Amino acid sequence: MHDLIKFWAVVPAAGVGKRMNADRPKQYLELAGKTVIEHTLLRLIKADVFTGVAVAISEEDPYWPELEVSTHEKIIVAAGGKERADSVLSALKSICAMASDDDWVLVHDAARPCITGSDIHFLIDSLVNDEVGGILALSSHDTLKNIQGDQIVGTLDRSHIWRALTPQMFRYGLLKNALTAAEGNPAITDEASALELLGLQPKIVEGRPDNIKITRPEDLALAQFYMEQQHD
Ligand code: C5P
Repeated sequence: MHDLIKFWAVVPAAGVGKRMNADRPKQYLELAGKTVIEHTLLRLIKADVFTGVAVAISEEDPYWPELEVSTHEKIIVAAGGKERADSVLSALKSICAMASDDDWVLVHDAARPCITGSDIHFLIDSLVNDEVGGILALSSHDTLKNIQGDQIVGTLDRSHIWRALTPQMFRYGLLKNALTAAEGNPAITDEASALELLGLQPKIVEGRPDNIKITRPEDLALAQFYMEQQHD
């Protein structure tokens, strides 16, 4: 179906994860016998669809070279940036000699180690013929409030609100242009928002609820529980 088009994974992994209150960036915390980032990268590699996996690593990061996966033949290392979007752009630039504008890129947070092959393949199968691309997302079960200070000033219509997950899947050339155009804009907290700024409308593809992002200390135990339940 997609013979000439290649697929690349891009993994921003240059954050510090302040909300974890840990002695090291959250991607290097231990989870079920490996670090968080090793789970993430090994699952992307195992999906068996990516030509390469470009990982953005902070230049002062002493933990990365210690990991066996850092020398895997599919891994390409790029310098991390100030914000997540800068790290993603840096990783995209690191593969510019190998990637074509029409290739697909799946950007996935290092801090989402429970990603499954089934979600990766479902996203690809859902979007591979799409003009723009899109993201895994989940509807919100909670009622959502608009607040000012500690006061509620409104209730959002949650039927129109979805939570953006990763991977987020876009064409290499379009994504690089969108992130370049948006450089320095603090509102760009995911790839889709950079494309939205260009007036494009990425699609949502319903993801699995076990694809959580490690953000707070209790998330590690939850991720371990999900991993024990996963069989794909
Ligand atoms: O902090 P948050 O959980 O939103 O970060 C999402 C992902 O972006 C993490 O995998 C983190 O390592 C990465 N990131 C990055 N460069 C930054 C900030 C965050 O690669 N400057």
